Formats: sequence, C-alpha cells, structure tokens
Amino acid sequence: MTTVFGVDIGGSGIKGAPVDLDRGVLAQERHKVLTPHPSGPDAVIDAVCEVVRHFDHRGPVGLTFPGVVVDGHTRTAANVDKGWIGLDAAARFGEALGLPATVVNDADAAGLAEVTHGAGRGRPGVVLLLTFGTGIGSALFSDGVLVPNTELGHLEMRGKDAERRASSAAKERHDLSWPKWAERVDEYLDLVEMLFSPQLVIVGGGVSRKHEKFLPLLKDRRTEIVPAQLRNDAGIVGAAMAASRAVPATGSGGGGAGRRNAR
Ligand code: BGC
Repeated sequence: MTTVFGVDIGGSGIKGAPVDLDRGVLAQERHKVLTPHPSGPDAVIDAVCEVVRHFDHRGPVGLTFPGVVVDGHTRTAANVDKGWIGLDAAARFGEALGLPATVVNDADAAGLAEVTHGAGRGRPGVVLLLTFGTGIGSALFSDGVLVPNTELGHLEMRGKDAERRASSAAKERHDLSWPKWAERVDEYLDLVEMLFSPQLVIVGGGVSRKHEKFLPLLKDRRTEIVPAQLRNDAGIVGAAMAASRAVPATGSGGGGAGRRNAR
C-alpha cells in the first residue's frame, strides 16, 4: 500500500491523515485542529505541523490551499490572509515539516479525488467539480486531465463575483431559504453551462452533505448534476494524490500540482 499524507486547509479547520492512494481512502482516522485567525502563513504552517506530527509519517505531504497555486507558489487569497499572496508555500511547508511538500488548490484537490475515486470515476469528456463553501471552488477536467486553477467562483454574475451571491456562505449571510438559494445556484450553473458545456457537474463542498435539500430544487438542464461522494475526505485524498504525482527536484519542497496532469 502506498501511503502519502494529505492535509486540507479550510476556513474553520485544518485536517490531515495518511491516505491509502490505491483505494482513495484515509489510512487512519484524521486529526483536526482549528484554523488560526488571522490565517497568516506562520500561524497556518504551525497548525499544519501540529496535524502532521500527530502521526508518525515520514514521506511526501500534499496540502490544499483556497486560492490559485502555481508551481507551489500561492498567488491569490480571496478568503484568507493576504500574506499568502506570492509566497513559495511549498518551500515553506517543506522546510517547516522537513518533508517534501506539494501545494494544490483546494477545489482541484477535491476534483482529483472525485474524478479518480468518486462521482466522476470513469467519466470521459468535460467534467466540472464545483465546491460551495465560503467561496465557490472549481476543478475542470477534460478526459480525466485537470486544467488547474480555473477559479470559476469569480465569474461575474449581476456585476459581482459569483461566489458573493451563490456560495453557501452567501446563503448564510443573506439568510436564504433553500429554494431562494437554489435559484442563485441555478443562475450560476446557467453561466457555467453556457461557457463550458460540461457533460457532468459534481457538486462538492460542505453543503453537499445536504444535497437532497437543494439538488432536487434545481431546474432541469442538459448537464447532469450529481453530489460529490468523498465529501469531507476529498480534499485530504486529493492533496495526497497531488503529492504522489509531484517529483521533487531536491527532496525538499515540491513542484505543486499546478503543472501536472491529473492522471
Ligand atoms: C478561491 C478559490 C478556491 C475557492 C474555494 C475562492 O474564493 O479563489 O481558489 O478554490 O474559493 O475555497
């Protein structure tokens, strides 16, 4: 069994576990610490070290980040501390952990996991995973190959970032009923469908646990819409998958999945 460690850095918690890559499942029960606030690099790196050191893991570590990641560098930070912008995050995590580290966008990680082990397994053509949480994350696949950092949560809808209107945080913020929120999600899906004509859309993120409350409310459309299957574990599994695909040049730090294929 090949085991790589995966860490999912989320708005409320930082969760990690060794991952069984052959089966796409956690090899041990995950460990979680609260995400520090403010969520600047130093505090988050400390919290990540605490999660990884909870286990006796020696080997590559993959980490998710809720922003654009290119070659291990974090480039944007829409919903986290702006101190991440421009940071060589893979190198920083690698040094702090003393292990090879790979950093990948959070939605891309979830997408890798779903396309390989979950709702998108064996599905050819254009497959899009959308995560509805604090923001809206996206992972775009063509015949199983990831196009990283698509950032479709920032498509413009009614003059605003779509995620400001249609994320699950927007539902909370505006105290929207499920039907009212579903209308906004439909408007967003219209836009995405028009631009990308996906054959399959996988709905992930925390709210996908309650998919039966809103997926049936969405209008009929050409695109098949299904809930994510790995739920809470998709980020951890996908981060570990990204790390297993990265070939560190020096043995410390990592290249990031941004320039690598999804398979
Ligand atoms: C970020 C994306 C991220 C998504 C979900 C957006 O605000 O720009 O990079 O994937 O939130 O966390």
